[in-house]
Amino acid sequence: MAALRARTVLLTGSNRGIGLELVKQLLGGPRPPAWIFATCRDPEGPRAQELRDLASRHPNLVLVKLDVANPSAIADAAKIVEGKLNGAGLNLLINNAGIYAQVSLETVDSDEMIRTYKTNAVGPLLMAQTFLPLLKKAAQNSTEKGLSCSKAAIINISTVMGSIEKTPESFCKPVISYRCSKAALNMLTKCQALTYGEAGILCVALHPGWVKTDMGTQEADLTVDTSVRGLLSVLPVLSEKHSGNLLNWEGKVIPW
Ligand SMILES: NC(=O)c1ccc[n+]([C@@H]2O[C@H](COP(=O)([O-])OP(=O)(O)OC[C@H]3O[C@@H](n4cnc5c(N)ncnc54)[C@H](OP(=O)(O)O)[C@@H]3O)[C@@H](O)[C@H]2O)c1
Repeated sequence: MAALRARTVLLTGSNRGIGLELVKQLLGGPRPPAWIFATCRDPEGPRAQELRDLASRHPNLVLVKLDVANPSAIADAAKIVEGKLNGAGLNLLINNAGIYAQVSLETVDSDEMIRTYKTNAVGPLLMAQTFLPLLKKAAQNSTEKGLSCSKAAIINISTVMGSIEKTPESFCKPVISYRCSKAALNMLTKCQALTYGEAGILCVALHPGWVKTDMGTQEADLTVDTSVRGLLSVLPVLSEKHSGNLLNWEGKVIPW
C-alpha cells in the first residue's frame, strides 16, 4: 500500500470521532508528518483530553484552537500555523469538522439550516480561502509532477448523504440540513478543484462510510479504525484524475 508522504497536515474537528482517529493513525503511520496541526473548538476542555495526551507524547502534534463556524478564529489559527511552519507550506488540509441534526422537512427551520451550513459548508470554504497561501507554498516548493496529497491538497470530509443521485437509498433519514449542507460541500469541492488545480492543489471530497462515532452512533457499519484506515489508504493514491470528485473510504467514486 502506498504511504502518505505529506509532511505538514492540518485537520479540523480533531478532538473526537473520525478526526481524532485520523490524528492517531497519522502519528502511528510508517511516515508520520513533520507537523500535524490538530485543531478543535476547545483544546483545553474535557473533550480534548485524549488529544492533549497524544500531544504530550508526540512533539510533532500541535493543538490549535479553531471553531470553523467563526471566521476570525480561522484567521487566528492560520497565523499560529504559519508561525510554526516557519516558511514551509501546508501539504494537506482535511476539513473534517461537521454537525448533524435529526430534522425533517416538517421540523427544520431557518436557524438550523444556517447553523449547519456555517459549519459544514461555509467553514470548509473559509478554511481553504484562509490557508490557500500555505497550500500554494507547499505546491510551489514541491518537485512532484501532477496533483497529490503529498504535494498540496484539500480533502473535504463529506458524505453519500450529500449525493443527490443516492438520496432515495437513505431517505429514511431525511436530515435535511445535513444533506443540503453536504451537497453544498460537494459543489464547493468541484469549484475548488476547477479553481485551485492550476496552483497545483488537489481537491477531493471523501465519504468515510457509516462510522461508529457520536455522529454515526453505535448502530453504524464501520468502526472508526476501519474507516480511517480506508481513508488513509485512499489519500496516497489520489491524483488529478480524482480531483473534484466524491469518493468513499475504499476509493470508489460516488455519483453526485
Ligand atoms: N460518522 C459517520 O457515520 C459519518 C458518515 C459520513 C460523513 N461523516 C462526516 O465525518 C466528519 C466527522 O464526523 P464524526 O463521525 O467524527 O462526528 P463526531 O463524532 O460528531 O465529531 C464531530 C467533530 O466535529 C467537531 N466540530 C463540530 N462543529 C465544529 C465547529 N464549528 N468547529 C470545529 N469543530 C467542530 C466536533 O467538535 P466538538 O467536540 O467541539 O463538538 C468533533 O470534533 C463530519 O464531517 C461528518 O459529516 C461522518
